[in-house]
Amino acid sequence: MSLLNQIHLETAPKHVAIIMDGNGRWAKKQGLLRVFGHEKGAKAVREALEGARKTGVTHLTLYAFSTENWNRPKKEVDKLMNLLVSSLKKEFKTLNENSIQLNTIGNLEDLPEKARNTLLDVIEKTKNNKKLVLTLALSYGSRDEIVKTVKIIADKVKNNIISVKNIDESIINEHLYTQNLPDVDLLIRTSGEQRLSNFLLWQIAYAELYFTNVLWPDFKQEHLYEAFINYQNRERRFGKTSDQL
Ligand code: IPE
Ligand code: IPE
Ligand code: MG
Repeated sequence: MSLLNQIHLETAPKHVAIIMDGNGRWAKKQGLLRVFGHEKGAKAVREALEGARKTGVTHLTLYAFSTENWNRPKKEVDKLMNLLVSSLKKEFKTLNENSIQLNTIGNLEDLPEKARNTLLDVIEKTKNNKKLVLTLALSYGSRDEIVKTVKIIADKVKNNIISVKNIDESIINEHLYTQNLPDVDLLIRTSGEQRLSNFLLWQIAYAELYFTNVLWPDFKQEHLYEAFINYQNRERRFGKTSDQL
């Protein structure tokens, strides 16, 4: 039986987040410069999207560039920003054909103008698509997001828009970048690293974590299916006992 056929669509994860890691190591292994790893990595996004579409995923959130990634050599950062623009231009048609809505989380204002404008343009042009929300985390850092959220809420308290006694988890959710997204069901990280690198700390409180040694540029639909099969064999108890489920 193919991997895809082993996935039970009713229990498949709805919101999948991926830390797309390993582009540099992939390039090094081939004796290439890191930038080629990023080029190949950009193409692997297509595989993830295609796999997500076939399995009824409603939200796919991809960690594309962290707040810490600004500390990389300028040449690499420039390459990543240019790749973002060229990929969006190239994939825009596919997004519309497949009813995929583009969304972003992170500090968009930090991005070069061209990247920001292209993003905003594609977001606008895909806003009515309903099948799947593709969220790109760009200049995203979870701690930074939480700091921003605290500031917004503190300001609302100061201006008597929210009272302290009403602050609860839903108020916090409503002020995060991810305010329109459901909880993450499954977080995948490629490349063998087992850390979160400042990604969605609040949002993955009860997500299932899945780590694979596959380097991101080698990622294929089958790898997504393997993760989903692993996921569907787990018991998500949310603090309860097995018998209560
Ligand atoms: C992920 O691959 C892409 C980004 C973080 C932008 P890396 O560039 O981190 O690749 P490795 O981890 O060095 O192999
Ligand atoms: C995390 O990968 C960020 C993205 C995948 C965009 P990194 O390669 O930057 O993470 P660390 O530095 O190994 O933790
Ligand atoms: Mg890395």
